[in-house]
Amino acid sequence: MRKGASDGSVKWHIRSATKDDLDSLLDLEQICYKEETFHRKQLKYLLLKARSIVLVAQISGNIVGSIIVLLRERILNARIYSLNVHPEHRRRGIAGSLMDTALDILEEKGYDNVTLEVGINNRIAQDLYRSKDFIVDKELPHYYKNGDDALHLMRKF
Ligand SMILES: CC(C)(COP(=O)(O)OP(=O)(O)OC[C@H]1O[C@@H](n2cnc3c(N)ncnc32)[C@H](O)[C@@H]1OP(=O)(O)O)[C@@H](O)C(=O)NCCC(=O)NCCS
Repeated sequence: MRKGASDGSVKWHIRSATKDDLDSLLDLEQICYKEETFHRKQLKYLLLKARSIVLVAQISGNIVGSIIVLLRERILNARIYSLNVHPEHRRRGIAGSLMDTALDILEEKGYDNVTLEVGINNRIAQDLYRSKDFIVDKELPHYYKNGDDALHLMRKF
């Protein structure tokens, strides 16, 4: 699957990740600040073994963004597990494109809803999710290992 997009000056395309993307995904994971990051073993599992959708955004052969969605057996609820865009490529709409592509796939597959957790202080990500029609479902006190609270968000299809 392939979906092109552009902010007018830079073009990127979105595709499914493969096992060859593991190192690039790991690098991106470590560059992007967020509440918690995945280790190699976890990422490898998410990419190769889990029931998941892993998409990457690519510019000139380099991976600059990624989204990981977990799918559940027999339950039509999916969970966005990770969303990253390289700091040098932010504010161009790449996360929005990754999210739109993932939401299209979930809708096509017949999912009822998708959920995610976001740090209570991560206003940028919260703005993005709000713009994609996610609503706050509940608060999750001390959700992260560092003790920070999170918000649990949901979007229905
Ligand atoms: C959150 C993140 C993925 C956004 O990526 P991005 O490609 O810059 O986002 P987009 O350009 O698609 O922006 C989409 C919307 O997000 C919001 N947004 C993005 N950057 C923002 C900023 N600096 N300030 C305020 N709102 C912002 C806006 O609503 C924006 O829409 P707009 O440009 O029409 O105003 C990126 O900042 C990131 O990787 N952060 C670190 C990892 C992280 O926090 N991931 C989410 C964990 S839950």
